[in-house]
Amino acid sequence: MITADLTNIRIEKNNFSSIKSVDFNQLDFGKYHTDHMYIVDYGDEKWFDARVIPFQNISLSPATASFHYGQTVFEGFKAHRSKTSNEIILFRPEKHWERMNKSMERICMPTLPKDIFMDGVIEMAKMERDWVPTQDGCSLYFRPFVFATDAFIRVKPSDNYYFIVFCSPVGAYFSGELKVKIETDYVRSSEGGIGFAKSGGNYAASLLPAKKAAKNGYQQIMWTDAKEHKYIEETGASNVMFLIDNVLITPSLSSSILDGVTRDSIITIAKDMGYKVEERKVTVDEVINAIKNKTLQEAFGTGTAAVISPISVINYLNVDYKIDAPKENGFSRKVYKTLNDIKYGIIPDPYNWTIRV
Ligand SMILES: Cc1ncc(COP(=O)(O)O)c(C=O)c1O
Repeated sequence: MITADLTNIRIEKNNFSSIKSVDFNQLDFGKYHTDHMYIVDYGDEKWFDARVIPFQNISLSPATASFHYGQTVFEGFKAHRSKTSNEIILFRPEKHWERMNKSMERICMPTLPKDIFMDGVIEMAKMERDWVPTQDGCSLYFRPFVFATDAFIRVKPSDNYYFIVFCSPVGAYFSGELKVKIETDYVRSSEGGIGFAKSGGNYAASLLPAKKAAKNGYQQIMWTDAKEHKYIEETGASNVMFLIDNVLITPSLSSSILDGVTRDSIITIAKDMGYKVEERKVTVDEVINAIKNKTLQEAFGTGTAAVISPISVINYLNVDYKIDAPKENGFSRKVYKTLNDIKYGIIPDPYNWTIRV
């Protein structure tokens, strides 16, 4: 049970709301922000001064450590407007808090107590509830993040940090076809690196190859292992799954890929639906062969932003391999429906994943 009164949150309300300037029927992902932000300081080895304040710019020294050495982590989860009650439903915020702390440990940051995270998020959900879209497929995206604030240009862990949460009303992350390119030159992360941490550097490494792929019409890179480019890892913004011969196959977790919350949710639902699930090393060759011999039924990306995004083309070594659209009663449609019905409160949540505000 989450209690909202553990953290003493100071609240400064915004006298102005920009909500009227937002076209909720045209919600490009990440374009808008709501009226408030939650911010907590870290210094002298403790987190302090939790407050919700009007959304605003932050003033920082040019010497701020995170600008130079990338000591940053972030998260992303969603809140949906219930279809059956007046509630706002947060999807698995605690799991995101857990992952944020794992990222923070790897980036050598002090971890964040659960109450400070959860109480702030719940307070933001209460204050920004009018911003949670009513449109189908739309939601309020929460972006918690932490960054080093020492004004000190020497490579060392910072002694000071900000934890901030702001929110953005969003629509679909991908629209239309999702064509992906299997990367065989560039590397996003490697075993022993920081790929499993949701830290800015991983995304910086992905920008150039993603830009090159986009020039040729591929919306995402499908990353492969750093050593041999033989095993599939994930895409730039989602984990990947394949349904081959009615078995759900997905790359096992490692230090180089993100432990996706959506991935975990889909695996749980799939097992409960009676599907066989294999989390293991997945070779590029077996996926390409499964497309060639027509045993691959579905391929899709999974993520908070991407939800479940069917892949229509996989490009490997300059050849496009086409994948049929998922069937109406196919696996991903069924899982998508169950997941969505839980998120929108249409069916009970048997997994205790949601928090209602
Ligand atoms: C690199 C990467 N992998 C996987 C995911 C999916 O993770 P989740 O389902 O927790 O959003 C994301 C999305 O945030 C991502 O950026």
